[in-house]
Amino acid sequence: MSIGEPQHTPPALVTRVLAEKAGLWGKYPPANGSPEFRQAAADWLTWRFKLPVGMIDADKCVLPVAGTREALYLIAQTVISPTADRPVVLLPNPFYQVYVGAAVMAGAEPVFVPGAHGPTSQPDYSTLPEEILARTQLAYLCSPANPQGAVADLDLLKRTVKLARRYGFVLAMDECYSEIWDTIEPAGALEACAALGGSLDNVVVFHSLSKRSSVPGLRSGFVAGDPKVMAAFARLRSYGGAATPLPILAAATALWRDEAHVDENRSLYRAKLDIAQRLLGSRSGFSRPPGGFFLWLAVGDGEKAALALWQQAKIRVLPGKYLARDGVGDRFIRVALVHDLETTEQALTRLAEIL
Ligand SMILES: Cc1ncc(COP(=O)(O)O)c(C=O)c1O
Repeated sequence: MSIGEPQHTPPALVTRVLAEKAGLWGKYPPANGSPEFRQAAADWLTWRFKLPVGMIDADKCVLPVAGTREALYLIAQTVISPTADRPVVLLPNPFYQVYVGAAVMAGAEPVFVPGAHGPTSQPDYSTLPEEILARTQLAYLCSPANPQGAVADLDLLKRTVKLARRYGFVLAMDECYSEIWDTIEPAGALEACAALGGSLDNVVVFHSLSKRSSVPGLRSGFVAGDPKVMAAFARLRSYGGAATPLPILAAATALWRDEAHVDENRSLYRAKLDIAQRLLGSRSGFSRPPGGFFLWLAVGDGEKAALALWQQAKIRVLPGKYLARDGVGDRFIRVALVHDLETTEQALTRLAEIL
């Protein structure tokens, strides 16, 4: 339970489409993917985030990526100017590790921003000092967040988009858990752009099939947003990015056009949250996450608890300390609810006993 790798059965259509398109393994894939893939992604964004039709130009605003991890890394290489004076990258705290590596390797200073309303909330970058914002070139935000499952509401997203435009930085919005939610469908950064008049300036969003469709091994996602940023990103990726093979693009196209398997997947995560609530809900450190599939449990000393769980119950979880800075994660463990119901029930029963 230490890795966010979905163990649910992948949709059958993946194998079917890969077999149907096997002839395409003999072709080099174009770096910008296929027109069908780009259109499926644009149509999905338009439907999911209630965008005006035509807001997303599939050819100028969408690029396939070999999983969003590489894309979240490479966006920093695209955006950070090597000649700037002490460029800053804003990151949530706690955070997904790739953001830090991306900032450091691009030569920027990572600035870790804790949740505005405590350790299970989202950061509000608009409260940062002028001195930091003036040097900011890139800001990562993740909603629903890994690890704590916090969801950014539309007001926060609008505020952050406006801030990015005022200070001229790019908002890299990691929405790879957007389809794993409990009771309320999370808003997205493009929805905020639509509410602010429809411009995509300064905003790029990252979407993945790894969690939505339980195919982390397919390595397929996309980036969409500001056509100027996307053009620079496409240029960088044409040198150093991994193009997605055409059979995989065909399977991914079919997945973005199907919601039935996503509904089923979401129900399974909800059922696991119900199990967690039943077994752990009475603990003071438990809060049911509104999105994502992690429990972010306050346990006193997260590292000590993780060690005890491994030694005494053979359960592997991640100490929150490894996903945060400045002591923000020390009290927590992160538990990935990625297994089947029976395994989850067994593991959480043992976990509750040990804790
Ligand atoms: C917050 C977050 N962003 C991005 C990713 C990358 O996912 P992928 O590269 O499979 O699209 C992960 C994977 O665990 C994640 O937790």
